[in-house]
Amino acid sequence: TSTAATSVSISGDIGSQLHGGYYHPLARSWQAERQLTKSMFIYPIFVTDREDDMNLVASLPGQYQLGLGKLVSYLEPLVRKGLRSVMLFGVPMKPGTKDALGSAADDPEGPVIQAIRLIRRRFPQIYICTDVCLCEYTSHGHCGILRDDGSLNNQLSVDRISDVAIAYAKAGAHCVAPSDMNDGRIRSIKLKLIEEGIAHKTTLMSYSAKFSGCLYGPFRDAAGSSPSFGDRKCYQLPPSGRGLARRAIIRDLNEGADVIMVKPAGQYLDIISDAKELGKDLPIAAYQVSGEYSMIHAAAKAGVFDLKAAAFEATESILRAGATIVVSYFTPQFLDWLDN
Ligand code: PBG
Ligand code: ZN
Repeated sequence: TSTAATSVSISGDIGSQLHGGYYHPLARSWQAERQLTKSMFIYPIFVTDREDDMNLVASLPGQYQLGLGKLVSYLEPLVRKGLRSVMLFGVPMKPGTKDALGSAADDPEGPVIQAIRLIRRRFPQIYICTDVCLCEYTSHGHCGILRDDGSLNNQLSVDRISDVAIAYAKAGAHCVAPSDMNDGRIRSIKLKLIEEGIAHKTTLMSYSAKFSGCLYGPFRDAAGSSPSFGDRKCYQLPPSGRGLARRAIIRDLNEGADVIMVKPAGQYLDIISDAKELGKDLPIAAYQVSGEYSMIHAAAKAGVFDLKAAAFEATESILRAGATIVVSYFTPQFLDWLDN
């Protein structure tokens, strides 16, 4: 009948009308599976071993290397604005601190352990994550202990890195996040946490899918962690290695990771989405790394776009891909932006 014909053509027209669902800003926000909130952000902090340091890092706009004497006054306004979590990186500046074993990483008087204690005392509401790696502390700048031929000795590296993780957890870190990419480190850290009786109060966040590449440059300026020879291609993943990333994620899930991280973020949204699918029962973190942050700043400065608009687009895309935790140098700004 004519009614049937009409209803088909009308339903075709009706199905083509989408604008009504998102003409209003609130309705647009409903299109997201997850809204960006302050509690999703982890703010990376570079802590030096010189009390009064407050050095702007030229390649990382607005970010500082901070001495312990500057940490509290730096964090105070951020905590007031709703900062919930930090990721600590140690930066040994004193000459003679670095050696082949990265001994300074877990020095009880060193910057990370001292910063953990200070933050626990002064800001008990802050959730403290610690990056666990050796590259800031080794004389050669690699993320582990080397054999004579310059390659990583995986077993020695894992033994050492898991000791460092335990030292941070015992000092009061809520979360240990190994970024070294040695094989088997998650299992080793989890076993030691159990042995020490602190597995129940320590989150183990694995930088599972950490890709090698050019986006870590500003970080290495800030942390003083560039390798003195070679590169990190034998332990960090090749950028095109999606299958390898999936294997690394599955491996770390099976070894006892509580959170899976993907890094960098913006150029690896497919990997974030894979991590979400493979690890559908755990939180997925993404690290918007130094190079991503500095690129956005550089482009904004060149007039390509507005900084805030670009930061939102980048971060919301990371969420859309599947992350619910974002490690970001934009954290202080989002604490302001998310108020409005
Ligand atoms: C240490 C570490 C790095 C980053 C986080 N942890 C640098 C690297 O692997 O060379 C990079 C973070 C960033 O670029 O913001 N292994
Ligand atoms: Zn490292």
